[in-house]
Amino acid sequence: MNYRHLYHAGNFADVFKHLSLILLVESLQRKPKPFCYLETHAGKGLYDLHSVESQKTKEFHSGITKLWSLRSVTAVPEVVTTYLSLVRHWNSSRELRIYPGSPCLVKMLLREADRMLLYELHPQEVQELQQVFLKDKQVVIHHENGYQALKACLPPLERRGLVLIDPSFETPTEFDDVLTGLKYAYQRWQTGIYVLWYPIKARSEVLRFHRHLSTLGMEKILVAELCLYPDDIASRLNGAGLVILNPPWQFKEQLESLLPWLRRQFTGGEGGKEEVRWLVK
Ligand SMILES: C[S@@+](CC[C@H](N)C(=O)[O-])C[C@H]1O[C@@H](n2cnc3c(N)ncnc32)[C@H](O)[C@@H]1O
Repeated sequence: MNYRHLYHAGNFADVFKHLSLILLVESLQRKPKPFCYLETHAGKGLYDLHSVESQKTKEFHSGITKLWSLRSVTAVPEVVTTYLSLVRHWNSSRELRIYPGSPCLVKMLLREADRMLLYELHPQEVQELQQVFLKDKQVVIHHENGYQALKACLPPLERRGLVLIDPSFETPTEFDDVLTGLKYAYQRWQTGIYVLWYPIKARSEVLRFHRHLSTLGMEKILVAELCLYPDDIASRLNGAGLVILNPPWQFKEQLESLLPWLRRQFTGGEGGKEEVRWLVK
């Protein structure tokens, strides 16, 4: 396992994913009934953007830096204001240094009765994650393969919840692994909300993935993509996509309004594209 998210934390793809997660958690919280948040590939929780790794790639400049430096927060979408206030929580000064990953962002939104289950396989990452949530009884961390969680934890006791599958796509079989995992999870629990993050490099790879996904018998599959570059150079992260199974009411409309704004912040208005569409409905 060579992948370390520290090289990528806070990049445009992370920001897109984290804003979408906040919208999904907020929609689950419209009802008082508690829910379970399960993350199969949790990472280490907090990322120091001054670290050698982050400074080597400076990928965070493509994402969080662009929002952090917005002069006025009056004209930004509401979810961005929420997101920035969560990121600010980890940064005591005006300077941005710590980027909170998905477990930290979602944890700050949870209500007392909501529950969080995190899976992470990398020994060092999981150790750091455990430090972040030390003595926090609301969070249970497993040092295990996240795909096992889709067998072991579903359906959750609450019968309400959100599952984030956010693999590192280190191996050529990851798209297939994800499809197998999703298929299995869906068989066990058809009403859960599932979010899957995927990289957009070569379009042909994404088309193949979508084709397979649409044949799995799932009823409501939404796809949202944000590309900063044309998807014709396979060695570059041209964009990022999310597959959302069973998206909540109005989530599609929320993304349709958020993504053009977000792309403009990231590209300065030039180039790129976004799309939100039903793959299966
Ligand atoms: C993209 S990062 C997660 C980032 C995190 N979800 C966030 O948004 O802050 C993917 C993580 O998955 C871990 N990982 C890779 N394969 C795994 C597996 N089979 N099960 C659990 N974790 C895995 C990696 O060590 C890495 O920390």
